[in-house]
Amino acid sequence: MRIGILTSGGDCPGLNAVIRGAVIKGDRIHGQTFLGIKDGWRGLVEDDIVPLPRHDVRGLSRQGGTILGTSRTNPFDGGGAEQVRTVMTHHEMDAVIAIGGEGTLTAARRLSDEGINIVGVPKTIDNDLSATDYTFGFDTAVAIATESIDRLRTTAESHHRCMVVEVMGRHVGWIALHAGLAAGAHAILVPEVPQSLDQVGEWVRSARDRGRAPVVVVAEGFSLAGEEHVVAPRGLDAFGRPRLGGIGERLGPMLEELTGIETRCATLGHLQRGGVPSAYDRVLATRFGTAAIDAVVDKKWGTMVSLSGTDVVTVDLHDATTKLKTVPRARYDEAAILFG
Ligand code: F6P
Repeated sequence: MRIGILTSGGDCPGLNAVIRGAVIKGDRIHGQTFLGIKDGWRGLVEDDIVPLPRHDVRGLSRQGGTILGTSRTNPFDGGGAEQVRTVMTHHEMDAVIAIGGEGTLTAARRLSDEGINIVGVPKTIDNDLSATDYTFGFDTAVAIATESIDRLRTTAESHHRCMVVEVMGRHVGWIALHAGLAAGAHAILVPEVPQSLDQVGEWVRSARDRGRAPVVVVAEGFSLAGEEHVVAPRGLDAFGRPRLGGIGERLGPMLEELTGIETRCATLGHLQRGGVPSAYDRVLATRFGTAAIDAVVDKKWGTMVSLSGTDVVTVDLHDATTKLKTVPRARYDEAAILFG
């Protein structure tokens, strides 16, 4: 079999470990040949495809980013299934392993519905994909965010300031919830649970009154109660989703005015996606890569490998992409007991 691999959407730590796991298992166990599709769907619709021999994946599991490159190209803006089929036929490609998040896997599902042989692998630092307990990349992002909050706390304490830390996560608050809990934040603000400015101010004051430097962790998709819109100053991406960022810079001055406590904001941004993957993410990504080969061999087109408890299984791409996995209210309330 000749198998194309692509990484699409936002990069995340662990992508290279998936590629390595898939290529080594496919080559060693099944004698398969691999093709590297450059920059996600762009390479598949524009025919930018290179050989991906086993020696190219040596030592890759600890390397951040993706050796194949990525983009947020939507294949349906570039010819859709017909164009993909033409390019695959040209390269005698039997199947595609598409490694991506919600946007990528939604496109994979549509292509699969139109007869393209695709297996998906879930990745995203946001951990927002349904039908998998965790995505790789999330653990690393949480570790980076937690370490950053720890560092911001010592400078905030020195200056008796309040620190607002904005983390990624698009429309879900998983990174904020986990990093905020791990770092002992005094308030965690997530898109799933709008809060009033007064409530956040109360948590900030209460931490200050106990002699602490208040730390507020806010997810980029959070909005204040009564304000439906998210802060998205950079328009939409190729899948029509808002490019978020800026809520921290907006909240900081509002909190300073409300509480009288000098406040600074730090936006962690793409730092959360860069650098080496954690050991957990390397293991999960490698297992996903080898499991994707099993799914291809079994011709389980239109499925995605997924983590269920500690087992790697396959699920229908439809189940993975029809709704986002948001933070349940009970998980938030459990954390909120410690706020203030
Ligand atoms: O989906 C991953 C993610 O990092 C989100 O948390 C964030 O909103 C988005 O990608 C940023 O996208 P870009 O890299 O295109 O700015």
